[in-house]
Amino acid sequence: MALVNKNYANLKESYLFADIAHKVADFQKANPDKKVIKMGIGDVTLPLSKVVCDAMAKAVAEMAVKESFRGYGPEQGYDFLHDALVKYYASFGVELESTEIFISDGAKSDCGNITDIFDNSNTILIPDPVYPVYLDTNVMCGRNIIYMDGTPENNFLPMPDENVHADVVYLCSPNNPTGAVYNKEQLEAWVAWAKANDAVILFDAAYEAFVTDPAIPRSIFLIEGAKECAIELCSLSKTAGFTGTRCGYTVVPHALVRKNADGKEMSLNKMWLRRQTTKFNGVPYIIQRGAEAVFSPEGVAECRASIAYYQENARIMMEGLDKVGIKYFGGVHSPYIWLQCPNGMGSWEFFDFLLNELALVGTPGAGFGKNGEGYLRLTAFGSRENTIEGIERLVAKLGK
Ligand code: MLT
Repeated sequence: MALVNKNYANLKESYLFADIAHKVADFQKANPDKKVIKMGIGDVTLPLSKVVCDAMAKAVAEMAVKESFRGYGPEQGYDFLHDALVKYYASFGVELESTEIFISDGAKSDCGNITDIFDNSNTILIPDPVYPVYLDTNVMCGRNIIYMDGTPENNFLPMPDENVHADVVYLCSPNNPTGAVYNKEQLEAWVAWAKANDAVILFDAAYEAFVTDPAIPRSIFLIEGAKECAIELCSLSKTAGFTGTRCGYTVVPHALVRKNADGKEMSLNKMWLRRQTTKFNGVPYIIQRGAEAVFSPEGVAECRASIAYYQENARIMMEGLDKVGIKYFGGVHSPYIWLQCPNGMGSWEFFDFLLNELALVGTPGAGFGKNGEGYLRLTAFGSRENTIEGIERLVAKLGK
């Protein structure tokens, strides 16, 4: 008899964003005349930049010619993209070797897949609220999960507790969902904690391109000693509009070594290479050429312009929330605004109110953990027109 993974019975029935998509689809079906404005899932709306599309078109043309056609590529990514990333990291002060970088189809997959190289006996420390993928993928493995609270009192930036021991900790900065961002001293404290506990930090930097203050680290590897205790996961989804195109990268330093249950020292870089070469056939050549172009001078300028556009959306949203006296976090180094639901409403109650009364979609904070109750997340990734209209609807209703 084939037994299935019993841990799946411990998951919520559906993934948060799938749940919301169903509710929105039902609403739209019942109200076909209403224009629904989506500020829920963090999906980009601006097209890919021209230089990226040109690079992909050139790669498509290469695939049509015998001499330049490519079959299987290296599972960990082509050298040309590694080289572009080495230069990109160097541009903000991080020295990496190309063999420390692994190209993937995005940070979501790697966040889940990275669990493969850790023993199931590990205790996993997860912030609450949190991007649901960290939690769900560890529930799937049946791991012992402990939480650290993100609250208004700590600006949704939980700090290490010397009395708490864990083996693996997930940190996301700029944070999804709260938009909060750790400063250098705070990340130094995390690195010190990881070293004291022989733990590994899984640092999700998917929103690093939204950091505008040079004093705020865009990479955990800007912190001294992080290469001995951290893995960084990043994505071009938010940096360059690749949510549908799919490309990301994970950095596993050579200096990161831990013991297995038999006491044998293992290189996590070698383990991840072994895992990827066994279970993954790499990101398509065409996509990797597009990703390479993201890091060209034109690509960087075009992506910056898109991010500036979303940042202006966030500013417009914050201005509207200020008008109606709604308290919020984030929105500055982040595309997310994490707002306190007005009039003591619960997260799902406010979600329903926005959907039913204003045809506006947010993400209920409670979907990110217990500390998210009473909050709702809005994204600045919409079009300018929809952002203005959505916020105007909110201000008109709540300003009364
Ligand atoms: C979000 O809305 O939290 C993200 O878009 C989800 C993701 O990146 O997978």
